[in-house]
Amino acid sequence: MIDPWSSAILDYEKLIEQFGIKPFSNLLDEVEDPPTLMKRGIIFGHRDYGRIVKAMREKSGFAVVTGMMPSGKMHIGHKMIVDQLIWYQKQGADIYIPIADMESYSARGVEFEKSRELAITEYLTNYIALGLDFKKKNIHTYLQSENKTVQNLAYILGRRVNLNEMKSIYGFSGSTNISHLYVPLVQVADILQPQLEEFGGPKPTVVPVGPDQDPHIRLTRDIAERFKNKFKFITPSSTYHRFITGLTGDKMSSSKPKTAIFLSESPEVAEKKIKSAKTGGKESLEDQRLLGGIPEDCVVYEMLLYHLINSENELKEIYHNCKNGTTMCGECKTMASLKIRKFFEKLSKRRIIAENDARKILSRN
Ligand code: TRP
Ligand code: SF4
Repeated sequence: MIDPWSSAILDYEKLIEQFGIKPFSNLLDEVEDPPTLMKRGIIFGHRDYGRIVKAMREKSGFAVVTGMMPSGKMHIGHKMIVDQLIWYQKQGADIYIPIADMESYSARGVEFEKSRELAITEYLTNYIALGLDFKKKNIHTYLQSENKTVQNLAYILGRRVNLNEMKSIYGFSGSTNISHLYVPLVQVADILQPQLEEFGGPKPTVVPVGPDQDPHIRLTRDIAERFKNKFKFITPSSTYHRFITGLTGDKMSSSKPKTAIFLSESPEVAEKKIKSAKTGGKESLEDQRLLGGIPEDCVVYEMLLYHLINSENELKEIYHNCKNGTTMCGECKTMASLKIRKFFEKLSKRRIIAENDARKILSRN
Protein backbone atom coordinates (compact mmCIF):
# COMPACT_ATOMS: atom_id res chain seq x y z
CA MET A 1 0.00 0.00 0.00
CA ILE A 2 1.14 3.55 -0.73
CA ASP A 3 0.12 6.13 1.84
CA PRO A 4 -0.05 9.56 0.18
CA TRP A 5 0.24 11.32 3.55
CA SER A 6 3.40 9.62 4.74
CA SER A 7 6.84 10.18 3.34
CA ALA A 8 8.31 6.83 2.39
CA ILE A 9 10.85 6.68 -0.42
CA LEU A 10 9.47 4.62 -3.27
CA ASP A 11 10.99 2.04 -5.53
CA TYR A 12 10.09 3.17 -9.03
CA GLU A 13 10.66 -0.19 -10.73
CA LYS A 14 8.33 -1.88 -8.27
CA LEU A 15 5.60 0.63 -8.98
CA ILE A 16 5.76 -0.27 -12.62
CA GLU A 17 5.62 -4.00 -11.87
CA GLN A 18 3.04 -4.02 -9.09
CA PHE A 19 0.60 -1.28 -9.83
CA GLY A 20 0.34 -1.35 -13.59
CA ILE A 21 2.02 1.97 -14.22
CA LYS A 22 3.52 1.81 -17.72
CA PRO A 23 7.09 2.94 -18.48
CA PHE A 24 7.07 6.32 -20.15
CA SER A 25 10.00 5.46 -22.40
CA ASN A 26 7.74 3.43 -24.70
CA LEU A 27 5.69 6.51 -25.50
CA LEU A 28 8.37 9.14 -25.67
CA ASP A 29 8.85 8.99 -29.45
CA GLU A 30 5.22 9.78 -30.01
CA VAL A 31 5.31 13.02 -28.04
CA GLU A 32 6.05 16.03 -30.20
CA ASP A 33 8.74 18.30 -28.77
CA PRO A 34 8.79 16.60 -25.36
CA PRO A 35 9.94 18.64 -22.35
CA THR A 36 13.30 17.98 -20.74
CA LEU A 37 11.71 16.07 -17.86
CA MET A 38 10.33 13.54 -20.31
CA LYS A 39 13.48 13.31 -22.41
CA ARG A 40 15.62 12.65 -19.35
CA GLY A 41 13.39 9.96 -17.90
CA ILE A 42 12.45 11.98 -14.82
CA ILE A 43 8.86 11.44 -15.86
CA PHE A 44 9.19 7.68 -15.75
CA GLY A 45 5.68 6.28 -15.91
CA HIS A 46 2.11 6.83 -17.02
CA ARG A 47 -1.38 5.45 -17.24
CA ASP A 48 -3.24 5.86 -20.54
CA TYR A 49 -1.07 8.73 -21.71
CA GLY A 50 -1.71 7.62 -25.30
CA ARG A 51 -5.02 9.43 -25.07
CA ILE A 52 -3.26 12.67 -24.29
CA VAL A 53 -0.70 12.20 -27.05
CA LYS A 54 -3.58 11.76 -29.47
CA ALA A 55 -5.45 14.81 -28.19
CA MET A 56 -2.29 16.91 -28.53
CA ARG A 57 -1.66 15.65 -32.03
CA GLU A 58 -5.24 16.19 -33.17
CA LYS A 59 -5.61 19.41 -31.22
CA SER A 60 -8.94 18.10 -30.00
CA GLY A 61 -8.62 19.55 -26.50
CA PHE A 62 -7.64 18.08 -23.16
CA ALA A 63 -7.30 19.11 -19.53
CA VAL A 64 -4.45 18.97 -17.04
CA VAL A 65 -5.24 18.88 -13.34
CA THR A 66 -2.64 19.09 -10.65
CA GLY A 67 -3.37 20.30 -7.18
CA MET A 68 -1.29 21.43 -4.32
CA MET A 69 -1.78 20.90 -0.65
CA PRO A 70 -0.64 24.03 1.14
CA SER A 71 1.24 22.74 4.14
CA GLY A 72 4.67 24.37 4.06
CA LYS A 73 7.27 26.06 1.93
CA MET A 74 7.88 25.01 -1.66
CA HIS A 75 11.29 23.57 -2.46
CA ILE A 76 13.12 23.17 -5.74
CA GLY A 77 11.72 19.66 -6.19
CA HIS A 78 8.25 21.14 -6.53
CA LYS A 79 9.43 23.09 -9.56
CA MET A 80 8.94 19.94 -11.63
CA ILE A 81 5.17 20.29 -11.56
CA VAL A 82 5.39 23.90 -12.64
CA ASP A 83 7.71 23.02 -15.52
CA GLN A 84 5.17 20.51 -16.74
CA LEU A 85 2.30 22.96 -16.45
CA ILE A 86 4.24 25.54 -18.46
CA TRP A 87 4.78 22.97 -21.19
CA TYR A 88 1.12 21.91 -21.19
CA GLN A 89 0.07 25.53 -21.37
CA LYS A 90 2.06 25.78 -24.61
CA GLN A 91 0.28 22.65 -25.88
CA GLY A 92 -3.05 24.41 -25.46
CA ALA A 93 -4.37 22.44 -22.48
CA ASP A 94 -7.08 23.62 -20.13
CA ILE A 95 -5.23 23.85 -16.85
CA TYR A 96 -6.81 23.31 -13.45
CA ILE A 97 -4.90 23.98 -10.24
CA PRO A 98 -6.95 23.08 -7.19
CA ILE A 99 -5.57 24.28 -3.91
CA ALA A 100 -6.21 21.47 -1.50
CA ASP A 101 -7.08 23.45 1.60
CA MET A 102 -9.69 20.87 2.61
CA GLU A 103 -7.01 18.19 2.48
CA SER A 104 -4.58 20.34 4.39
CA TYR A 105 -7.20 20.96 7.06
CA SER A 106 -8.21 17.34 7.54
CA ALA A 107 -4.87 15.62 7.04
CA ARG A 108 -2.54 18.20 8.61
CA GLY A 109 -4.75 20.42 10.75
CA VAL A 110 -3.90 23.59 8.80
CA GLU A 111 -6.57 26.28 9.21
CA PHE A 112 -8.27 27.57 6.05
CA GLU A 113 -6.99 31.14 6.40
CA LYS A 114 -3.44 29.85 6.77
CA SER A 115 -3.86 27.71 3.65
CA ARG A 116 -5.09 30.64 1.63
CA GLU A 117 -2.14 32.74 2.73
CA LEU A 118 0.33 29.93 1.95
CA ALA A 119 -1.29 29.38 -1.42
CA ILE A 120 -0.74 33.04 -2.23
CA THR A 121 2.69 33.75 -0.78
CA GLU A 122 4.23 30.40 -1.60
CA TYR A 123 2.51 28.37 -4.28
CA LEU A 124 0.94 30.87 -6.65
CA THR A 125 3.80 33.32 -6.21
CA ASN A 126 6.29 30.66 -7.19
CA TYR A 127 4.17 29.33 -10.05
CA ILE A 128 3.99 32.83 -11.53
CA ALA A 129 7.64 33.64 -10.87
CA LEU A 130 8.68 30.39 -12.54
CA GLY A 131 6.79 31.36 -15.67
CA LEU A 132 3.26 29.98 -15.56
CA ASP A 133 0.93 32.51 -17.16
CA PHE A 134 -2.27 33.03 -15.19
CA LYS A 135 -3.42 35.75 -17.55
CA LYS A 136 -4.27 33.16 -20.17
CA LYS A 137 -7.90 32.19 -20.50
CA ASN A 138 -7.64 28.44 -20.03
CA ILE A 139 -6.17 28.35 -16.56
CA HIS A 140 -8.28 27.91 -13.44
CA THR A 141 -7.21 28.04 -9.81
CA TYR A 142 -9.50 27.61 -6.85
CA LEU A 143 -9.57 26.72 -3.18
CA GLN A 144 -11.39 23.42 -2.64
CA SER A 145 -13.26 24.96 0.26
CA GLU A 146 -14.74 27.60 -2.05
CA ASN A 147 -15.65 25.39 -4.97
CA LYS A 148 -19.26 24.30 -4.62
CA THR A 149 -19.17 22.31 -7.88
CA VAL A 150 -16.28 20.18 -6.69
CA GLN A 151 -17.83 19.68 -3.25
CA ASN A 152 -21.16 18.62 -4.71
CA LEU A 153 -19.50 16.32 -7.21
CA ALA A 154 -17.51 14.69 -4.41
CA TYR A 155 -20.73 14.09 -2.54
CA ILE A 156 -22.45 12.58 -5.57
CA LEU A 157 -19.49 10.32 -6.31
CA GLY A 158 -19.33 9.16 -2.70
CA ARG A 159 -22.58 7.25 -3.23
CA ARG A 160 -20.63 4.51 -4.98
CA VAL A 161 -17.59 4.23 -2.74
CA ASN A 162 -17.71 2.37 0.53
CA LEU A 163 -15.73 2.42 3.72
CA ASN A 164 -13.98 -0.89 3.16
CA GLU A 165 -12.66 0.35 -0.11
CA MET A 166 -11.24 3.49 1.49
CA LYS A 167 -9.68 1.39 4.22
CA SER A 168 -7.96 -0.90 1.80
CA ILE A 169 -6.69 1.86 -0.48
CA TYR A 170 -5.50 4.29 2.18
CA GLY A 171 -5.16 2.22 5.30
CA PHE A 172 -7.82 4.32 7.02
CA SER A 173 -8.88 2.88 10.34
CA GLY A 174 -11.34 3.40 13.13
CA SER A 175 -9.35 6.36 14.40
CA THR A 176 -9.20 8.24 11.10
CA ASN A 177 -11.10 11.51 11.37
CA ILE A 178 -14.22 11.72 9.23
CA SER A 179 -13.09 14.81 7.33
CA HIS A 180 -9.97 12.97 6.27
CA LEU A 181 -12.11 10.14 4.98
CA TYR A 182 -13.86 12.56 2.67
CA VAL A 183 -10.70 14.18 1.29
CA PRO A 184 -9.87 11.63 -1.43
CA LEU A 185 -13.36 12.12 -2.86
CA VAL A 186 -12.75 15.84 -3.10
CA GLN A 187 -9.55 15.15 -4.99
CA VAL A 188 -11.38 12.76 -7.32
CA ALA A 189 -13.88 15.55 -7.94
CA ASP A 190 -11.00 17.98 -8.65
CA ILE A 191 -9.84 15.64 -11.37
CA LEU A 192 -13.25 14.96 -12.90
CA GLN A 193 -14.65 18.49 -12.73
CA PRO A 194 -13.20 19.54 -16.13
CA GLN A 195 -15.34 16.86 -17.74
CA LEU A 196 -18.66 18.20 -16.45
CA GLU A 197 -21.03 19.69 -19.02
CA GLU A 198 -20.53 23.21 -17.67
CA PHE A 199 -16.77 22.89 -18.22
CA GLY A 200 -17.05 21.69 -21.79
CA GLY A 201 -18.01 18.07 -21.25
CA PRO A 202 -16.02 14.82 -21.35
CA LYS A 203 -12.41 15.23 -22.43
CA PRO A 204 -9.10 13.46 -21.97
CA THR A 205 -7.50 14.64 -18.75
CA VAL A 206 -4.01 14.10 -17.45
CA VAL A 207 -2.84 14.36 -13.87
CA PRO A 208 0.93 14.78 -13.52
CA VAL A 209 1.89 13.61 -10.04
CA GLY A 210 4.54 12.02 -7.89
CA PRO A 211 4.04 8.29 -7.38
CA ASP A 212 2.85 8.88 -3.81
CA GLN A 213 -0.38 10.22 -5.31
CA ASP A 214 -1.12 7.04 -7.24
CA PRO A 215 -3.76 5.72 -4.81
CA HIS A 216 -5.81 8.83 -5.64
CA ILE A 217 -5.36 8.17 -9.34
CA ARG A 218 -6.49 4.56 -9.07
CA LEU A 219 -9.53 5.55 -7.07
CA THR A 220 -10.35 8.32 -9.56
CA ARG A 221 -10.12 5.96 -12.50
CA ASP A 222 -12.36 3.41 -10.78
CA ILE A 223 -14.95 6.00 -9.86
CA ALA A 224 -14.89 7.48 -13.38
CA GLU A 225 -15.81 4.01 -14.66
CA ARG A 226 -18.63 3.64 -12.14
CA PHE A 227 -20.17 6.91 -13.25
CA LYS A 228 -19.69 6.47 -16.98
CA ASN A 229 -23.40 6.18 -17.64
CA LYS A 230 -24.27 9.30 -15.76
CA PHE A 231 -21.42 11.62 -16.79
CA LYS A 232 -19.78 9.95 -19.86
CA PHE A 233 -16.39 10.42 -18.18
CA ILE A 234 -13.26 9.56 -20.11
CA THR A 235 -11.02 7.70 -17.66
CA PRO A 236 -8.28 10.15 -16.62
CA SER A 237 -4.66 9.56 -17.55
CA SER A 238 -1.64 10.22 -15.32
CA THR A 239 2.10 10.64 -15.42
CA TYR A 240 4.60 9.97 -12.63
CA HIS A 241 7.86 11.74 -11.93
CA ARG A 242 10.84 10.80 -9.82
CA PHE A 243 11.53 12.91 -6.77
CA ILE A 244 14.73 14.87 -6.51
CA THR A 245 17.04 13.64 -3.74
CA GLY A 246 17.56 15.91 -0.76
CA LEU A 247 20.89 17.66 -0.18
CA THR A 248 21.83 15.16 2.50
CA GLY A 249 21.06 12.13 0.37
CA ASP A 250 17.67 11.53 2.05
CA LYS A 251 14.32 12.61 0.71
CA MET A 252 13.98 16.35 0.03
CA SER A 253 11.40 17.56 2.47
CA SER A 254 10.11 20.99 3.41
CA SER A 255 9.93 19.95 7.04
CA LYS A 256 13.70 19.25 7.04
CA PRO A 257 15.40 22.48 5.93
CA LYS A 258 18.81 20.80 5.71
CA THR A 259 17.58 18.56 2.91
CA ALA A 260 15.90 21.25 0.85
CA ILE A 261 16.60 24.31 -1.25
CA PHE A 262 13.49 26.45 -0.88
CA LEU A 263 12.21 28.52 -3.78
CA SER A 264 12.10 31.52 -1.45
CA GLU A 265 15.81 31.12 -0.64
CA SER A 266 18.23 34.01 -1.21
CA PRO A 267 20.81 33.37 -3.96
CA GLU A 268 23.56 33.30 -1.32
CA VAL A 269 21.92 30.65 0.82
CA ALA A 270 21.01 28.55 -2.21
CA GLU A 271 24.61 28.67 -3.29
CA LYS A 272 25.85 27.71 0.15
CA LYS A 273 23.43 24.83 0.28
CA ILE A 274 24.49 23.32 -3.00
CA LYS A 275 28.11 23.60 -1.95
CA SER A 276 27.38 21.48 1.07
CA ALA A 277 25.39 18.85 -0.83
CA LYS A 278 26.29 15.19 -0.87
CA THR A 279 28.19 14.17 -4.00
CA GLY A 280 29.07 10.91 -5.65
CA GLY A 281 32.75 11.75 -5.43
CA LYS A 282 35.58 9.68 -4.00
CA GLU A 283 37.31 10.19 -0.66
CA SER A 284 40.54 11.49 -2.16
CA LEU A 285 41.36 13.43 -5.31
CA GLU A 286 43.69 10.67 -6.27
CA ASP A 287 40.94 8.07 -6.19
CA GLN A 288 38.64 10.38 -8.08
CA ARG A 289 41.17 10.85 -10.86
CA LEU A 290 41.78 7.13 -11.00
CA LEU A 291 38.26 5.74 -10.57
CA GLY A 292 35.99 8.67 -11.43
CA GLY A 293 32.87 9.79 -9.54
CA ILE A 294 29.35 8.40 -9.56
CA PRO A 295 26.96 11.01 -10.99
CA GLU A 296 24.02 8.66 -10.38
CA ASP A 297 24.65 9.04 -6.63
CA CYS A 298 25.31 12.75 -6.71
CA VAL A 299 22.87 15.41 -5.56
CA VAL A 300 24.79 18.12 -7.41
CA TYR A 301 24.45 16.20 -10.65
CA GLU A 302 20.76 15.71 -9.99
CA MET A 303 20.29 19.46 -9.60
CA LEU A 304 21.93 19.97 -12.97
CA LEU A 305 19.89 17.19 -14.55
CA TYR A 306 16.52 18.27 -13.16
CA HIS A 307 16.82 22.01 -13.14
CA LEU A 308 19.99 23.80 -14.09
CA ILE A 309 21.15 22.62 -17.52
CA ASN A 310 19.08 22.79 -20.68
CA SER A 311 21.59 21.53 -23.20
CA GLU A 312 21.80 17.75 -23.58
CA ASN A 313 25.39 18.01 -24.81
CA GLU A 314 26.56 20.09 -21.88
CA LEU A 315 24.98 17.64 -19.48
CA LYS A 316 26.53 14.64 -21.23
CA GLU A 317 29.94 16.22 -21.03
CA ILE A 318 29.61 16.77 -17.29
CA TYR A 319 28.47 13.20 -16.85
CA HIS A 320 31.42 11.76 -18.75
CA ASN A 321 33.98 14.04 -17.19
CA CYS A 322 32.75 12.93 -13.80
CA LYS A 323 32.78 9.24 -14.71
CA ASN A 324 36.24 9.27 -16.21
CA GLY A 325 37.81 11.29 -13.41
CA THR A 326 38.50 14.45 -15.38
CA THR A 327 36.42 16.72 -13.17
CA MET A 328 36.80 16.97 -9.40
CA CYS A 329 33.81 17.66 -7.18
CA GLY A 330 35.20 21.02 -6.08
CA GLU A 331 35.16 22.56 -9.56
CA CYS A 332 31.90 20.85 -10.37
CA LYS A 333 30.28 22.39 -7.30
CA THR A 334 31.63 25.81 -8.19
CA MET A 335 30.07 25.53 -11.63
CA ALA A 336 26.74 24.32 -10.21
CA SER A 337 26.66 26.98 -7.51
CA LEU A 338 27.15 29.69 -10.13
CA LYS A 339 24.22 28.36 -12.06
CA ILE A 340 22.06 28.14 -9.00
CA ARG A 341 22.99 31.66 -7.95
CA LYS A 342 21.89 32.98 -11.35
CA PHE A 343 18.68 30.99 -11.17
CA PHE A 344 17.82 32.33 -7.72
CA GLU A 345 18.83 35.89 -8.55
CA LYS A 346 16.23 35.90 -11.29
CA LEU A 347 13.62 34.00 -9.32
CA SER A 348 13.85 36.14 -6.20
CA LYS A 349 13.35 39.30 -8.27
CA ARG A 350 10.40 37.83 -10.08
CA ARG A 351 8.84 36.59 -6.86
CA ILE A 352 8.52 40.15 -5.55
CA ILE A 353 6.29 41.18 -8.46
CA ALA A 354 4.56 37.82 -8.63
CA GLU A 355 3.16 38.02 -5.11
CA ASN A 356 0.88 40.92 -6.04
CA ASP A 357 -0.54 39.00 -8.98
CA ALA A 358 -0.91 35.89 -6.84
CA ARG A 359 -2.97 37.82 -4.32
CA LYS A 360 -5.26 39.09 -7.06
CA ILE A 361 -5.94 35.56 -8.29
CA LEU A 362 -7.38 34.55 -4.92
CA SER A 363 -8.92 37.89 -4.05
CA ARG A 364 -12.34 37.63 -2.49
CA ASN A 365 -14.10 40.12 -4.74
N1 TRP B 1 -3.17 15.54 -2.79
C1 TRP B 1 -2.38 16.49 -3.50
C2 TRP B 1 -1.14 16.83 -2.64
O1 TRP B 1 -0.90 16.22 -1.65
C3 TRP B 1 -3.12 17.74 -3.84
C4 TRP B 1 -4.25 17.60 -4.82
C5 TRP B 1 -5.53 18.00 -4.59
C6 TRP B 1 -4.21 17.12 -6.16
N2 TRP B 1 -6.29 17.81 -5.68
C7 TRP B 1 -5.54 17.27 -6.67
C8 TRP B 1 -3.23 16.57 -6.97
C9 TRP B 1 -5.85 16.89 -7.96
C10 TRP B 1 -3.54 16.19 -8.26
C11 TRP B 1 -4.86 16.36 -8.74
O2 TRP B 1 -0.38 17.71 -2.96
FE1 SF4 C 1 28.96 14.90 -8.57
FE2 SF4 C 1 30.36 16.55 -10.07
FE3 SF4 C 1 31.52 15.17 -8.09
FE4 SF4 C 1 30.71 13.95 -10.29
S1 SF4 C 1 32.31 15.48 -10.16
S2 SF4 C 1 30.40 13.25 -8.20
S3 SF4 C 1 28.86 15.10 -10.79
S4 SF4 C 1 29.99 16.75 -7.87
